[in-house]
Amino acid sequence: MKTVDDLEVSGQRVLVRADLNVPIDGTRITDDGKIRACLPTLGALLDRGAAVVVCSHLGRPAAAPDPAYTLAPAAARLGELLGRAVPLAADTVGPSARAAVADLAPGGVVMLENLRFNAGETSKDDALRGAFADELASLADLYVGDGFGAVHRRHASVCDVAARLPHAAGYLVQAETAALQRLTRDIQRPYVVVLGGAKVADKLPVVGGLLGQADQILIGGGMAFTFLAAQGHGVGLSLLQGDLDAARGYLDQAARSRVDLVLAPDVAVAGGRDAAGPREVVPSAAIPPDRMGLDIGPESAGLFAARLATAKTIFWNGPMGVFEVPRFADGTRAVARALADSGAFTMVGGGDTAAAVHALGFPDDAFGHVSTGGGASLEYLEGKTLPGLAALQADDRAAARSAR
Ligand code: 3PG
Ligand code: MG
Repeated sequence: MKTVDDLEVSGQRVLVRADLNVPIDGTRITDDGKIRACLPTLGALLDRGAAVVVCSHLGRPAAAPDPAYTLAPAAARLGELLGRAVPLAADTVGPSARAAVADLAPGGVVMLENLRFNAGETSKDDALRGAFADELASLADLYVGDGFGAVHRRHASVCDVAARLPHAAGYLVQAETAALQRLTRDIQRPYVVVLGGAKVADKLPVVGGLLGQADQILIGGGMAFTFLAAQGHGVGLSLLQGDLDAARGYLDQAARSRVDLVLAPDVAVAGGRDAAGPREVVPSAAIPPDRMGLDIGPESAGLFAARLATAKTIFWNGPMGVFEVPRFADGTRAVARALADSGAFTMVGGGDTAAAVHALGFPDDAFGHVSTGGGASLEYLEGKTLPGLAALQADDRAAARSAR
């Protein structure tokens, strides 16, 4: 993979695909880790006299402009961190974007509005994606892929643009892949994976891949309920997503293999995330029908911490509960503490998980590596080819040919 250092960027317009999909409460960014993570690449390009066009998705809007998903807070925060204003175009590839890019001088920076306001960005139709990629590519001379958190998505700005412009990987993508290689080559064992979080349907298939790699898989957070339901337990009002048959298959597969798949044995429940009623701890197999599981319980936290204490390699994706609500943060804090205290190589993967450890007061250097991509790092560890990385690896000459 070529890197930013291999590109002649002075005086060139460079389209940078970043992952600025940060957690936002109203208009307030609650964790700016992903924005900080793209500063090395943006700083280097600007210092070397490039004109930088930053693009990203935010959330999952319905393929049309939606003010609830504007990148305005991210542009403002990036401006603060760079110490210069970052103007935001009112559209992604429309008249506002084209005018902003046309006015851009070397050393200048502009941000395009949310890529996912355009149906072409995420389309499964190659022609529609390609047409949108053509428009994006027409805004720049060079392309830098630095949105690590999105490299598992076959999206126009992640893959198709790289086939249309000379391209390179940004420093974040480089650093993330280097860290992930430590979890795929010469793994120090025991290798323990902790899974939680809310994007269960996305991440459930990863369990199948990890059964061939990890020694133990500890499951808590939103992901636990799908497995509990697959075992035939009621989960009350708890988050239930994903294919129960697949979950049952993974449980059977684990039972037949040397891999220990451990479900959180107890869970903290309440009437709802923000409900005023009491918080109670119940066995995971006995969640009352009118209660919602919102954190792992103390027995689970103790069990997970004990398993983690003997690990030599740990990968953690997904909070153990609704950590944003203090009374449901204990499980996530216990897992973070266990990683921080461990002598193992530890990786915390995913925007939400990174935001959780930051919110709970753990500095990045308490861990071996804090990844900005949850889904992306999981799919990498599963051994899948990530479309965004493959696109960056592909030869430039193909890009040059298609541009002619
Ligand atoms: C993330 O936050 O995991 C990345 O930004 C990817 O977002 P997505 O899951 O909506 O594609
Ligand atoms: Mg995420």
